[in-house]
Amino acid sequence: MDGALPEPGPDALAASRALLGRIGAELASAGNWISFARYMQLALYEPELGYYAGGSAKLGAPGDFVTAPETGTLFARTLARQVREILAPGEAVLEFGAGSGALAAALLDALPADTPYLILEPSAELAARQRARLRGRAVWLERLPPRFRGVMLANEVLDAMPVHAVSWTREGIAERGVCANEGALAWRERPAAGALLVAARAIDIELPPSGRYESELGLAGRAWIGALAGVLDSGAILIVDYGFPAREYYHPQRSMGTLMCHYRHRAHGDPFYLPGLQDITAHVDFSALAQAAVDAGLDVLGYASLASFLIECGITELLAETDPDDVSRYAPLAAQANLLLSPAEMGELFKVLAVGRRVQRPLAGFTRGDRSHTL
Ligand SMILES: C[S@@+](CC[C@H](N)C(=O)[O-])C[C@H]1O[C@@H](n2cnc3c(N)ncnc32)[C@H](O)[C@@H]1O
Repeated sequence: MDGALPEPGPDALAASRALLGRIGAELASAGNWISFARYMQLALYEPELGYYAGGSAKLGAPGDFVTAPETGTLFARTLARQVREILAPGEAVLEFGAGSGALAAALLDALPADTPYLILEPSAELAARQRARLRGRAVWLERLPPRFRGVMLANEVLDAMPVHAVSWTREGIAERGVCANEGALAWRERPAAGALLVAARAIDIELPPSGRYESELGLAGRAWIGALAGVLDSGAILIVDYGFPAREYYHPQRSMGTLMCHYRHRAHGDPFYLPGLQDITAHVDFSALAQAAVDAGLDVLGYASLASFLIECGITELLAETDPDDVSRYAPLAAQANLLLSPAEMGELFKVLAVGRRVQRPLAGFTRGDRSHTL
């Protein structure tokens, strides 16, 4: 890794050392090996010390990364058009992993005033921030409700779920886990087994000339969508995130996988750097998610690039509501539109997947540009 990442302060370093202590204790009691998914769970969600559980800024300019809702309200106002189309009177919105609460705040302004807005947020620290921002306009849940009708939303949530790390070689399929080695965390492989081996075998991997292919497998994301399907009586789940269909995700040229770490707006590939202080993410395999949804009895309602989805929802009409000569109001909106729509920014890498039950098709966002057939 390039050694030029900014230095954390003494409190942050102490928190990271405390988390390393907990990871070390777990390794010691587990024969010096834990799965990468378990490591990611600890690094991101361990109470008080994990990246999402701790007190660092995370989102926006003072944090480590910027998400679409953090750039302004244009994303939420456009998304609201799709949400309004699906919602029947009295139905609710359930947002997963609401971050700073920016998406909720802007959506609430754009939805009918009596729309119930529920949030399920595993990070106590982020939930506290959301409560302060939304001031009673939402209800926070500890777990999935027993039944649900309406729209479930997950923006950049799937990329933050723990993934398993796998390597494919001519010798077979191995699970890449984590061990302690001379006082530092390091990768260690062992033969893949159980559900992971079954899932890894089902992927069509073409080995590169090096004879080794590494990537990630999102078993947690598949289980998550199955759980949502179990409570969704009618309505849609809208998933917005960066990722690809399986054919591109496991493309021969992507032989080093998709793991990515974010620390103070620098991206790098070392997940063992300062655990608890940096975000760790993997791209989303949308084919696997869609298949898990179908296996759980849901319909695929649409799959498109973020740019296509937002254009079909009418982002340009929203933009046209502001006079371009009113530069102080128009320029920030144009900048948001560029970020959301440009293929060099979020427009093409980010996708929208909609799955659901008892929903009329086509949904507005997928009238044109639907790529469900590529999943
Ligand atoms: C990258 S942040 C995105 C935050 C926000 N949605 C945004 O776009 O700004 C990831 C969020 O997903 C949440 N998260 C992770 N796993 C989750 C799960 N299983 N259910 C709900 N939220 C989850 C995290 O706590 C965090 O709030």
